[in-house]
Amino acid sequence: MGDPVVPRPIVPHDFKSDPTLANKGRDLYVGRCVWCHGSGAVSGGYAPDLRASPIPLSFDAFKAVVVGGAKVQPYGMPKFSDLQAEDLKALQHFIRQQAAVGTKAAAKAATE
Ligand code: HEC
Repeated sequence: MGDPVVPRPIVPHDFKSDPTLANKGRDLYVGRCVWCHGSGAVSGGYAPDLRASPIPLSFDAFKAVVVGGAKVQPYGMPKFSDLQAEDLKALQHFIRQQAAVGTKAAAKAATE
């Protein structure tokens, strides 16, 4: 028996999350992604934790999965072919914002 798998949110140093875009991304996320990927992008276990996934780091990879359904469709994720480039960018900003929040909370907990 190994340790339980704890997702490790990715916080790239060269990505600055824009609050306006992140808010737009939050609305999209809550409307379309939340029931599978979890509140605040913190996965409940059914679908991957997007904060820890490398895919949203790349616009092209993210688009291929979310708009094109690449790789994920057989596992029950629908494709969102109506999402535009600016919607995907907003989702990327929201996911990185959530990753940063989670990491800060963990750092704070570790010092308390
Ligand atoms: C009906 C449930 C469902 C919904 C709704 C859903 N997903 Fe998913 N998603 C999944 C599942 C299940 C997987 C895992 C597929 C696999 O195992 O390869 C996945 C995988 C992904 C991945 C790949 C993660 C990785 O590292 O492999 C991304 C990125 C993603 N989803 C983004 C989104 C976004 C953004 C939305 C909202 C626009 C969304 N998903 C909505 C179920 C869902």
